[in-house]
Amino acid sequence: MRLEGKSIIITGGGSGIGLACAKLFTNKGAEVAIIGRRKDRIDLAAKEIEGSILPIVGDVANNKDLDNLVSKTLNTFGKIDIVVNNAGVFSGSSLHETKSEDWNNVMDTNINSVFQLTKRVLPHMLEREAGTFVHIASIAGLVAIPGVAAYNVSKGALLQFNRSIAMEYGPFGIRSNAVCPGLVKTEMTEDLMQNEELMKEWSKDYPIGRFGIPEDIASACLYLASDDSSFVTGVALPVDGGFTAH
Ligand SMILES: NC(=O)c1ccc[n+]([C@@H]2O[C@H](COP(=O)([O-])OP(=O)(O)OC[C@H]3O[C@@H](n4cnc5c(N)ncnc54)[C@H](O)[C@@H]3O)[C@@H](O)[C@H]2O)c1
Repeated sequence: MRLEGKSIIITGGGSGIGLACAKLFTNKGAEVAIIGRRKDRIDLAAKEIEGSILPIVGDVANNKDLDNLVSKTLNTFGKIDIVVNNAGVFSGSSLHETKSEDWNNVMDTNINSVFQLTKRVLPHMLEREAGTFVHIASIAGLVAIPGVAAYNVSKGALLQFNRSIAMEYGPFGIRSNAVCPGLVKTEMTEDLMQNEELMKEWSKDYPIGRFGIPEDIASACLYLASDDSSFVTGVALPVDGGFTAH
C-alpha cells in the first residue's frame, strides 16, 4: 500500500494512461479524483475502479472546471497530496499547415491547463509543506517528432514547467517529476496503430521489441508519486522501450 492515505488528482482519468494510473493508485491505498470531459467515460471508469474514487466531469482547459475540481477534491478528501497532469491531446500536421485553432487547442490542453491547475493546488501544498506533481509528457518533449510540431512544443514546455516547479518549490517540500512515454496503445494512438506498415517501420526504433501499454506508464508514475522517490525531483523519465537510447 505505497499510497496509503494519499489524496490524488488525475486529469484525463477516464481512459488510457490516466485510467491505468487511477486503477493502480486506488489499489495501492490512495483516494483518487479523476476529471475528464466525457461523462460516459468518467462514469464507466468510476465503475471499473475498485477503491476510493471521486469522478468529476469537466474540461481542464476551463478555469471554472478546475476551481470545481480543486474544491470538490478538498471537500471530499480534505487535502491534495499528489497531482498527475495527464490530460492531453495530439494533433498531427506540418507546421506550415497547422491551423492557429489547432495550435491553441494543443497548448490550452497540454500546457496552459497544467499551469492553471498547479496555480490552484500550490497554495494548499505550501500550507502543508508537502506535495508531489507527476506530469505525463512524451518522448516528443525530448526529441522533435516530424509532423507534430504543436505537440512537440507543448510537451517540451511541460518539461521546463516540471523543472521550474522542482527548483522553486523543492525547499518547501514539494517535488515535481515527468514521465516521457514512447508510443503507447491507447485511444490517442488507435488510428495511427491501424497503419501496419508505419508501425513495422516505427517498431525498429524500440529495442525492447514492442510498443507500450498504459500499465507500463502507470507503474513509473507510481514510483514518482510515492515516497519511494523522495530524493527525486525535476527529472524527465523516459518510459519508451529504449526509443531515446539511440
Ligand atoms: N499514447 C501515447 O502513445 C502517448 C505517448 C506519449 C505521451 N502520451 C500522453 O499521455 C497522456 C494520456 O494520453 P493517452 O495516451 O492515455 O490517451 P487518451 O486519449 O486515452 O487519454 C487522454 C485523456 O485526456 C482527456 N482529455 C483530453 N483533453 C481534455 C480536457 N481538455 N479536459 C479534460 N480531459 C481531457 C481525454 O478525454 C482522455 O480521457 C496525454 O497527455 C498524452 O499526450 C501518450
